[in-house]
Amino acid sequence: MEGLEVRGLLLVWILGLSFVTATSATSVIVIGAGMSGITAAKTLSEAGIKDFLILEATNRIGGRMCKTTFQGLNVEIGANWVEGVNGKQMNPIWDLAQKLKLRNFQSDYDNVTANIYTHHGGLYPHAVATVAFDVADERSNYTTALSTSMSRNKEEDISILASQRLCNKVPTSPLDMAIDYYTYDYEFAEPPRITSLQNTEPLPTFANFGEDLNFVADTRGYESMVYHIAHQFLTTSKHTANISDPRLLLNKVVREIRYSRSGVIVKTEDGSMYRAKYAMVSVSIGVLQTNLIKFHPDLPHWKLLALYQFNMAVYTKILLKFPYKFWPTGPGTEFFIYADEKRGYYPIWQQMENNYPGSNVLLVTVTDDESRRIEQQSDEETKAEAMEVLRNMFGKNIPDAKAILVPRWWSNRFYKGSFSNWPIGVSRFEYDQIRAPVGNVYFTGEHTSEHYNGYVHGAYLSGIDSAQMLVDCIKKGNCEPKFEGRPKK
Ligand SMILES: Cc1cc2nc3c(=O)[nH]c(=O)nc-3n(C[C@H](O)[C@H](O)[C@H](O)COP(=O)(O)OP(=O)(O)OC[C@H]3O[C@@H](n4cnc5c(N)ncnc54)[C@H](O)[C@@H]3O)c2cc1C
Ligand SMILES: *[C@@H]1O[C@H](CO)[C@@H](O)[C@H](O)[C@H]1NC(C)=O
Ligand SMILES: *[C@@H]1O[C@H](CO)[C@@H](O)[C@H](O)[C@H]1NC(C)=O
Ligand SMILES: *[C@@H]1O[C@H](CO)[C@@H](O)[C@H](O)[C@H]1NC(C)=O
Repeated sequence: MEGLEVRGLLLVWILGLSFVTATSATSVIVIGAGMSGITAAKTLSEAGIKDFLILEATNRIGGRMCKTTFQGLNVEIGANWVEGVNGKQMNPIWDLAQKLKLRNFQSDYDNVTANIYTHHGGLYPHAVATVAFDVADERSNYTTALSTSMSRNKEEDISILASQRLCNKVPTSPLDMAIDYYTYDYEFAEPPRITSLQNTEPLPTFANFGEDLNFVADTRGYESMVYHIAHQFLTTSKHTANISDPRLLLNKVVREIRYSRSGVIVKTEDGSMYRAKYAMVSVSIGVLQTNLIKFHPDLPHWKLLALYQFNMAVYTKILLKFPYKFWPTGPGTEFFIYADEKRGYYPIWQQMENNYPGSNVLLVTVTDDESRRIEQQSDEETKAEAMEVLRNMFGKNIPDAKAILVPRWWSNRFYKGSFSNWPIGVSRFEYDQIRAPVGNVYFTGEHTSEHYNGYVHGAYLSGIDSAQMLVDCIKKGNCEPKFEGRPKK
């Protein structure tokens, strides 16, 4: 009985496969429709490979570029800044932002020294904070110089914290820890104990594209950039201005990828099956570290090691709405820091008067373990904690927040965090293994960007690069992309 049933199923499966084979004319299945997936598909399209299919798990494109409304404001719960502006090279995302006339504001961190609050209330005296910032500045000058010389001498990587120990300047007071958090965690979403020195100092994003950061606050959302790219190669409905291209399927959660020399078969949660010659996987490295997508055969050990050693960090932007402003406004007050005894406890604050005038909204950023803790508690509990911190800073008489928004990227099975961060112990060779194709399965996404992992521009550039690798394979038969070799022991 059982044998018959199995054989019967097998027959249905084989028939099903041949049916799919017979009807499918797809070269590439792109999995995920964030910045990298959409840019990869556009790159394929421009190379004449137009028989692709994009499968996206959610009901929208854009991925981690995502707007929402909060108390009548259009705000970003994912990427917010164009990072790397006004440098030697043009950041392609800055170029696009200007073409689309995305409303944006250069973030002014210059006066942050004058805006650091003690956990007993009130500001640190400016002179005290200035000295602490000078020490931090000296320290980072030292660690950057050390990083450059260690790279030149091909020495093994160390953590940022180890380099701070080497110059005998490890931050320990609440003030020094707050400045250290602001310098590192606020950018990488993980502490200096974890982050690679050689791969972050100097950081290619700031070194190549410039040190400025521009905050996007546009009713169309930062995600409109992804829609703009999509509209250039996907059919758009004339009536609704929506994408109506049959090659983009939303609400398709990929659960399985079978791959072999002859092609790939992709199964989705709703039981559909899609067949193509190649797959281009653009889901986050956080997702690749879970078993949401099962690969058959299993990905090879070298690939898993590379994927599992890298980090998916968590960065959480909490918004609070107040009945009125009780914080300083005007030039040089946009950012303020709270220096708790517990490093990273509601540390970096931004008042939204520049970006959303009259909104009476504050943004506080937490990362890493604090993000994971906060994602698991109720928003009411988070609001109470944030209020206590604000009362430490501004006194007892401030009003309660009327509303709070707490994004939960880590709990979301389609993201599992916010962006990748380069940890110690991953060499350039191992990093390249993250994007190296496995048979007919290609990889893209911010975590595969050659120089800009973690950023929107990294996602964009990786979409182009990974698709180009695939185009070289399809068009020129060059299916074994070359990466830097394994370092000599
Ligand atoms: C809170 C936060 C703040 C950030 N701040 C900035 C910033 O200020 N500046 C900056 O440059 N960058 C920032 N980033 C990073 C930036 O958003 C990302 O680097 C970039 O958007 C990633 O694009 P991607 O295409 O690589 O991945 P994604 O946008 O994650 O795209 C992958 C797509 O795959 C889909 N998917 C997942 N699983 C499946 C599945 N099983 N089947 C089908 N589809 C699936 C997802 O839904 C998603 O749409 C931030 C990110 C976050 C979350
Ligand atoms: C750190 O380096 C910068 C740039 O080279 C320099 O302007 C600054 O004075 C240095 N700071 C300290 C404290 O040495
Ligand atoms: C078009 O898109 C908008 C939002 O992007 C959505 O609300 C609307 O239902 C869509 N219209 C159609 C006809 O699909
Ligand atoms: C810097 O911040 C302080 C404290 O908020 C403020 O009083 C001062 O005006 C600011 N200075 C500049 C130059 O913006």
